[in-house]
Amino acid sequence: MTKKHIRTSIFLVIMVLCSYGCNSESPTAKEATKMSINKEAFGTTPDGKAVDLYTLTNANGLKAEIMTYGGIVTKLQAPDRNGNFADIVLGFDSLDEYIKGHPYFGAIIGRYANRIAKGKFTIDGTEYTLATNNGRNHLHGGIKGFDKVVWNAKELKTEQAVGVELSYRSGDGEEGYPGNLSCIVTYTLTNDNELKIGYEAETDKPTIVNLTNHSYFNLAGHDSGSILGHELMLNADRYTLADDELIPTGEIKSVKGTPLDFTKPMAIGSRIEQVKGGYDHNYVINNLDGSLTLAASVYEPKTGRVLEAFTTQPGVQLYTGGFLDGSNKGKGAVYNKYNGFCLETQHFPDSPNKPAFPSVVLKPGEKYTQLTIYKFSVR
Ligand code: BGC
Repeated sequence: MTKKHIRTSIFLVIMVLCSYGCNSESPTAKEATKMSINKEAFGTTPDGKAVDLYTLTNANGLKAEIMTYGGIVTKLQAPDRNGNFADIVLGFDSLDEYIKGHPYFGAIIGRYANRIAKGKFTIDGTEYTLATNNGRNHLHGGIKGFDKVVWNAKELKTEQAVGVELSYRSGDGEEGYPGNLSCIVTYTLTNDNELKIGYEAETDKPTIVNLTNHSYFNLAGHDSGSILGHELMLNADRYTLADDELIPTGEIKSVKGTPLDFTKPMAIGSRIEQVKGGYDHNYVINNLDGSLTLAASVYEPKTGRVLEAFTTQPGVQLYTGGFLDGSNKGKGAVYNKYNGFCLETQHFPDSPNKPAFPSVVLKPGEKYTQLTIYKFSVR
């Protein structure tokens, strides 16, 4: 045998051993090889900040794309009952389209999700005035909320999940809020087909905080039109009654006998004509002890896709996209009224001015932590 033959034989033996090694790999190791995190440049903000896009892929091929501008979930690819993947969140292809303005597609909302009446609240006798951006009220963190800032990012990988940890330090006085607030929002895509969103915050002065994610879902595919045929179950017997400006009156009412009742699965469109502008209501989840609870479950009959939302938060805003008017065109689609729905897990709107609602005050030395899980499956 020549030296060349010997080298070839050694190479072949190694190849055979390797392939045996691969075949005897544990399922976990196999899964780990399919999971990936990819980072790419996604553009630059007008003030010169570089924005990155992270693509998380789990072992089953589910993909979540998340960018550092606004912590926005730009795409979410999930399979239907035949294994066909579709992108099930509304959004755009480019950073510029997000920067031009949009109704919070996929974004992290902070410091305060939903409305604070007249942008005013008081802590320990000091009144604070926030930026007003929804008539005379404060909405979703103000003029430049957490949906419009660039977050720092760190990749995370475990045997069962891939993720990205986003962090942002909001300075004392930003949009009128007291205290320097350090926030961490962690997106994790698990091999159980869950998108987990963990929220953490700490402050150096007494302040208020209420973080959420504003993804608009359409389980038939973001470009497939109306969501009115989706069947929704909400684990909520009550909701917070609101006035014409969508500010809670303070009264908590039963959904029984009203078109707001989703305690049993019902098509979103079954009674929507009785609700002016569609659903835009904060539901009180049937569990206020802060433990992780099923808040909502949605089933799309044509594709079989199911979304379940679990949360530690006391409330969930059901918003059925009543303000979408066709002016937002994204990823090749035109988004019209009722083309997406949001399940924004949150503390109740205007809690800082409603002493009977669960408190949203965060003090130095305390840690704000919340968890929401969107779990995808098929039926
Ligand atoms: C609010 C709506 C608002 C929408 C988009 C929802 O969270 O409840 O009133 O129009 O966000 O801005």
